[in-house]
Amino acid sequence: MKVSEALDTRITCRAYTDQPVEAEKINRILKSAARSPSGGNLQPWHVWAIGGEKLAEFRSIVQSKIVDNPFGDGATEYDIYPKELSEPYKARRAKCGEDMYASINVAREDKAERQKHFNRNFDLFGAPAAMFFAIDRQMGLGQWSDLGMYIQSIMLMAREEGLHTAPQEAWALWYKTIGEFLGIPDNLMFFCGMGIGYMDENAPINTLRTDRADFNEYAHIEGF
Ligand SMILES: Cc1cc2nc3c(=O)[nH]c(=O)nc-3n(C[C@H](O)[C@H](O)[C@H](O)COP(=O)(O)O)c2cc1C
Repeated sequence: MKVSEALDTRITCRAYTDQPVEAEKINRILKSAARSPSGGNLQPWHVWAIGGEKLAEFRSIVQSKIVDNPFGDGATEYDIYPKELSEPYKARRAKCGEDMYASINVAREDKAERQKHFNRNFDLFGAPAAMFFAIDRQMGLGQWSDLGMYIQSIMLMAREEGLHTAPQEAWALWYKTIGEFLGIPDNLMFFCGMGIGYMDENAPINTLRTDRADFNEYAHIEGF
C-alpha cells in the first residue's frame, strides 16, 4: 500500500467487526512504528497493546465503573482542548461533532442519544484490540509531538495490515483506571487510547469523511 493510500483511507473508525486482530499484525505494526522520528532520538513513547481476555477484563471493569461514574475518574491530567478555544478551531471542532452525529441521524437536541454515542468511546467503539499511550512526565511539547508522530505511524501501518483505528483522547477521563489496570508507572502520564480492528463497512458512522480546512488557511508556500 502506498503511503498516500494509507493516508487517504485512514479515518477514525467507530464500528468494527468481531474479527480478532492477529498478534503478529500488532507486533509488525509496533515494530515498524518504532522507526518514527523523535528529537534527539529520545523515542519518548510508551505503548500497551491489549486484546483477547485481557481486553475483555478491561472492558468489564470500565463497564461496571461507568454506571456510577459516567465521567470516568474525574478530571483529566491534561486539558484535552484549550479552555478558551478560539476561531477557527472552535468552529472546526463543532462541525466535526455535528457531521459525526448527522452521519448517524442524531439530532442536536437529542442529548441522551449523543451521550449514548459518546459513551461508545468507553467500549472502544467495539474494537477487538486496543492500544494505550503514555509519556514520561518530564517530557515537553517537543516530545509530545514525537509521541503524536509515533501514533500516526501506528495508524498508517494499521492500514497496511488491512486494519482501522480510532485514536481516543476520551480515555483521558479514565487515566487512573487505565494506569492501575495496565500498571503504568507513576512517572508516566497517560495520553490516549486507540481502538484497532477490522472496520464494519456497513456501519453508517463509518461513512463519515471529515473535511479539511482550505489549504491556503495554513500552508504558506513561497519561492518555488
Ligand atoms: C489524539 C486524538 C484523539 C482523539 N480522540 C477522539 C475521541 O476520544 N473520540 C472520538 O470519537 N474521536 C477522537 N479523535 C478523532 C478525531 O475526531 C478525528 O481524527 C477528526 O475528527 C478527523 O477525522 P478522521 O480521523 O476521520 O480523519 C481523536 C483524534 C486524535 C488525533
